[in-house]
Formats: sequence, structure tokens, C-alpha cells
Amino acid sequence: MLELDRVRFGWDAEKPVIAELSLRIREGDKVVILGANGCGKSTLLKLMNGLAVPQSGSISYRNAEPKGRAFRQDCALLFQHPEAMLFNPTVREEIAYGPRQLELPDADARVAHWAAALGLTSLLDQPPFLLSGGQKQKLALACVLALEPKLLLLDEPSASLDPATVGWLIDTLLDTPTTVVTATHNLSLAAELGSRCLAMDALGRLLYDGPVSSALRHPGLLEETGLAHRHRHRHGDALHTHLHTHDWEGD
Ligand SMILES: Nc1ncnc2c1ncn2[C@@H]1O[C@H](COP(=O)(O)OP(=O)(O)O)[C@@H](O)[C@H]1O
Ligand SMILES: [Mg+2]
Repeated sequence: MLELDRVRFGWDAEKPVIAELSLRIREGDKVVILGANGCGKSTLLKLMNGLAVPQSGSISYRNAEPKGRAFRQDCALLFQHPEAMLFNPTVREEIAYGPRQLELPDADARVAHWAAALGLTSLLDQPPFLLSGGQKQKLALACVLALEPKLLLLDEPSASLDPATVGWLIDTLLDTPTTVVTATHNLSLAAELGSRCLAMDALGRLLYDGPVSSALRHPGLLEETGLAHRHRHRHGDALHTHLHTHDWEGD
């Protein structure tokens, strides 16, 4: 479905963020991209969405370039920072914006459906900037889900969602045939968000591509990606050093 072939990219010419990365996303895949802060997860999703263009190598979606109306209709990206994508005067118009841009005939029905699914119905006439952080994230999620994309790219979707909504999201994603690629550094959610894991190192290289369950049982890999680390801590009177993983939210 989506193929990256020896993709290189840096936001400035001297500092590559993605180095010679090749991978293939197959129809129906549920992929989790794991990696430490700043390793290039968000950049990789922007490349997949056509918002960034490789400096060398190529990306193709169903054997064509990832651009144009058909691609926009098929592929939606939930940004890491939802405020970045909210600009309409009301929640209703915000959710309707994408479907209307694509001239979909059932925009209003989609607004009603996804607002209800995310518990936003009572907020439909509110301006998005008045919502709380978690409500903004739900709204951003409603906006991308309302597009009912074939390829859904989610950048840290759980960062400010409450546990019930995270549970709802996991169930919703599992139930759809949609191909989903989710970037996260939340190890405890990784196994629920996908079955295939791509682990990136700090140099923007792919360290691992395989089942998420094996990745999580592989302390060496987690340490190399920067998702597990060693530090000292106390057990009673004894001081130990051993490998830890911590989940943390946000950047
Ligand atoms: N829009 C941008 N302009 C310039 N530099 C950027 C931009 N987005 C990300 N970067 C830089 O690219 C690197 C990778 O960032 P990012 O892809 O956001 O990593 P991650 O999502 O894994 O935390 C970082 O060094 C970051 O500062
Ligand atoms: Mg990021």
C-alpha cells in the first residue's frame, strides 16, 4: 500500500533525521512506530502523509506519488499537537471541514456520527480554542476519523486522552479494516495499538521491524532505541542498577 525506498530526509541539509529508510506498509497493517523523543517519528509520519518530501529515495502509495486528491482522500494524519490543526470557528465546522473539502455528500452525517462517538455532541457549537487539552485531542481525532481514511496515521494519539477514550480508540482501530500507523513512545500501549512494530534509533534508522510482542521482550532493542534505560534505585537497603522502561506522556 505504502512503500518507502531508501528515503533520506532532514529539516536542514546538515542534519539528516531519516537515514536510508526502506519499509513497506501492507493493506490492513496495524503498525506502531517506537522510538525515543526526537528520533524522527513525527517526521516519518509527515513523509508518509506527503507533507515532507524525501531529499533522496522515494515514497509511493498504491504505486503513485503520495499527493493529489485521491491520496488526500485516502490518507489522514493526526498531528502530535492537535492545536496545530484546529482553526475553524466551531467544533461542528472543524469536523465538517475535511469532508467538505473532499466534497463528500454525507459531511453532516459524518459530523453527527463522529461527534457522538467521541462524546463531543454537546460541544458542537463551541469554538475549538475553548476546549480543554483532552477535548481538543478528541476533536482532532474526530476530524481525522470523519475522513474515514484508508490509511490512518496517528502521532502520539494517547498523549492527552483520558483512559476511557484510549480504550475506545483501541477498540475502534481494532474493529476497522483501516491501515493504521501509530507513533508512540508509550510502551504499555504499543502492543494494543498494533501487531507490527517499527523501532527507530536516534539516527533515524530502522532497528527492528517485526511483531510488537517480540520487540517488547527484547531489552537490548529497547535500550538501543532509548526506550529503556539503566538507573540506580533502592530495594530496601540494597542499591541496584537494572534496566527500566518508563512510560511518559507528551514530548
Ligand atoms: N518542522 C520542523 N522544522 C525543523 N526541525 C524539525 C521539525 N520537526 C522536527 N524537527 C527536528 O527533527 C528531529 C526529529 O523530530 P521528530 O520527528 O519530531 O521526532 P519524534 O517525533 O520522534 O519526537 C528533531 O531534531 C526535531 O527538532
Ligand atoms: Mg513526535
